[in-house]
Amino acid sequence: MRILSIETSCDETAISIVEATGEFPTATYAVLGNSLFSQVDIHREYGGVFPAVAKREHAKTLTPMLERALTEAKLLERSTIMLSEEVRSELNTILYREPGLGEALTTFLEQHNTPAIDLIAVTSGPGLEPALWVGLNFAKALSYAWNIPLVPTNHMEGHVLSSIFTETRLPAIQFPALALLISGGHTELVLMRDWSQYEKIGETRDDAVGEAFDKVARMMGLPYPGGPEIGAAAKRAREKDLSRFVTLPRPMINTHTYEFSFSGLKTAVRYAIEGKELSQDDIEAVSREFEDAVTEVLLAKTRRAIDEYGVRTIIVGGGVSASTHIRASFMEYFGREYPDVAVFFPPRHLSTDNSVMIALAGHARVRDARRYSELSNLKADGNLSLA
Ligand code: KG4
Ligand code: ZN
Repeated sequence: MRILSIETSCDETAISIVEATGEFPTATYAVLGNSLFSQVDIHREYGGVFPAVAKREHAKTLTPMLERALTEAKLLERSTIMLSEEVRSELNTILYREPGLGEALTTFLEQHNTPAIDLIAVTSGPGLEPALWVGLNFAKALSYAWNIPLVPTNHMEGHVLSSIFTETRLPAIQFPALALLISGGHTELVLMRDWSQYEKIGETRDDAVGEAFDKVARMMGLPYPGGPEIGAAAKRAREKDLSRFVTLPRPMINTHTYEFSFSGLKTAVRYAIEGKELSQDDIEAVSREFEDAVTEVLLAKTRRAIDEYGVRTIIVGGGVSASTHIRASFMEYFGREYPDVAVFFPPRHLSTDNSVMIALAGHARVRDARRYSELSNLKADGNLSLA
């Protein structure tokens, strides 16, 4: 089956066409088309993501991304279609809150045949609600115009599946598996006793890991998003073996729970650097210590869960899993101490937000797909939980 997937939960506008042959989880996958526009240069000026700006940019970018993905997949045929007044009016009703999107999509639909797609998958949460709504309404409009069923997906399930994605078959996962999800909005440990079964065993009390990276970077004058900036600075510190400018806490590392807390760590950085003129070396040393502190906490909590639940597979996902240091530390530590436990990190280009993962999540939930006439209750949910 061919899946068209749409992701707009934060600051990436992404659309993919993925062909799944067979049933989840034993299908093989081929990415036929994949377009992604990152708004990061726009948000950098503000030092973070503003939901209203994200929404406006998604509305502007979705139709060009759709055209690009379908063209790459060789599924776009030019034609002249006369849309009836009824169809135009329904499309405008679906998209009335998304400035300019109704007009752009109507023009697109009038110029192209219905592509050979079997399923539309869209992120319905979690994320920034105004951003989620644009993608959801766009997906609804396509489902209506093309008469193709639509399936809502959970962004975090997408991150889990992204981490084990290969274009051949998904690997045969040994359960129980443990997903460590670390992104700009989430930090959670989720136990999986089987495919599509999630039990949250712990999460952050305050800031998400990615959020802490972004805030600490900003304090030191590094641009948004902070994760890759801190990672690069920390790497230089390790190469130069810079002595520590500061010693930071490892919050909650020894507590007997799976809760995290990163707000205190961020505050500790603030106190350490407040009122000081930081040299390049200082920034690098702080970055290194911060990244070490985060990594040690993540390792310790993951190890505790492995022991307690007899976990056989670790799946690390979410934007922060792009961190070279976190990845290398997990591979080294668990490879040495738990050689029978498999560890998965996403392929580099699928670690941050993308729509290939939404196609996978849609395929995993194909039974929840609905025709447009049954979609009236479909809602974006900024706080949608996995478990
Ligand atoms: O999953 P994602 O793309 O968006 C959300 O769903 O939040 O994650 C974005 C987060 C940002 O906070 C960003 O700073 C962080 O992932 N990130 C990194 C790295 N690349 C992105 N954090 C640490 N090291 C990286 N290399
Ligand atoms: Zn994400």
